[in-house]
Amino acid sequence: MIQDMDFPTGGVRAKARCDELGVAPFSDQPDGLFRPYLGPAHKATQERLSQWMTEAGMRVETDAVGNIIGHYAGTTPDAPVLLVGSHVDSVRDGGRYDGMLGVLLGIELVSHFHRTGRRFAFALEVIGFGDEEGSRFPTYMMGSRSAAGLTQQIDDNVTDPEGVTLRDALAAWGLETSRFMTARRQNVLAYVEAHIEQAPYLDRAALPLGLVRGIASQCRYRVTLTGQADHAGTAMHERRDALAAAAEAITAIEKIGAQDPADLVTTVGWVSVENGAPNIVPGRVVLTIDIRAVTPGVREDVAQQIGDTLQTLCIRRHIGLEIERIQDLKGALCDKRLNTLLKQAIEQSSGTTPPLLLSQAGHDAMIMAHLAPMTMLFIRCKDGISHNPAESVDDADVEAAHQAMVTFVERFGETM
Ligand code: GLV
Ligand code: MN
Ligand code: MN
Repeated sequence: MIQDMDFPTGGVRAKARCDELGVAPFSDQPDGLFRPYLGPAHKATQERLSQWMTEAGMRVETDAVGNIIGHYAGTTPDAPVLLVGSHVDSVRDGGRYDGMLGVLLGIELVSHFHRTGRRFAFALEVIGFGDEEGSRFPTYMMGSRSAAGLTQQIDDNVTDPEGVTLRDALAAWGLETSRFMTARRQNVLAYVEAHIEQAPYLDRAALPLGLVRGIASQCRYRVTLTGQADHAGTAMHERRDALAAAAEAITAIEKIGAQDPADLVTTVGWVSVENGAPNIVPGRVVLTIDIRAVTPGVREDVAQQIGDTLQTLCIRRHIGLEIERIQDLKGALCDKRLNTLLKQAIEQSSGTTPPLLLSQAGHDAMIMAHLAPMTMLFIRCKDGISHNPAESVDDADVEAAHQAMVTFVERFGETM
């Protein structure tokens, strides 16, 4: 039985801190939460996280891409590292727990061992990735891609909605752009991430915690449909309406996503109408397509099917079509040995057996799998609703997650 005085409050404090960080100055949106990469809210959040990491006994640094890292030394100076983390950025009008809860649970984990005077043969590092959501630039997972040592370039054609380049945004934080690719974490034994589920399985099964088996592959496209801008008085048969073509494309994409296998999902989440006005037939529309699937090969087959469908309808409507792949994320499996340890830790600390879940949501863990074996713990999320201010978790579940993480680290230490 764990005797420490922080039980059962470490998880409760992590959740309360997410709530504290859910409003200005930790949000760049006056009502609700929006914490884009390298913005003022991200800066304010880094400062607060740095304070909490320091209080928890960590040495704090910001790496070349703006990830924050807290280091809790092991019993030897060059001890290898057990890395724990998630992301700090949020989508626009997002929930308070997506990403941030995993970072704050990491801090509570270290705080527990610091207060109880425990050190291990490995160091503990808590990482808060700056960009997971593509929250500011049309990119994805830049924080974990750099930390995992994956190649990525600074593309000077890529800007945020205000026209600021990534290079300028990094420079505004005093980050040396020449060091952009030098954020690879060294000597990492394993990566562990706690995250809200973002699907309703745990809520419907009345279970607090789940274990992740793997994360679905994803790909994204930017589609440009070019017709002809025209007067709203133009006869119907004379038009080349790009928005009407987009509407037909969107329902076709939805239908394709609803076919088998059940783990396939397709989303058109963003549409932009050039010079949209009530009295203009839309001439140019840009939209995004997001495709996810766990079953191998499905993502590519479906991308091809969607491409063929769009081509056919655009030929029929005399609309120009351009499709550009803007994201390619391979799926990842959690490590079996780590999953066994985490399962035992959850059983011991919560008294429940966690179901093995597949994640349709993307996570930094799928990138960190390129660097080291990884595992993920899911926390029940009310009705599975996420990327929405209604995102909600229970104190008791977060507390159970905290205890499971503590037990996991202790067990991990016993296996070394
Ligand atoms: C991130 O939340 C993603 O799954 O796209
Ligand atoms: Mn998210
Ligand atoms: Mn997330």
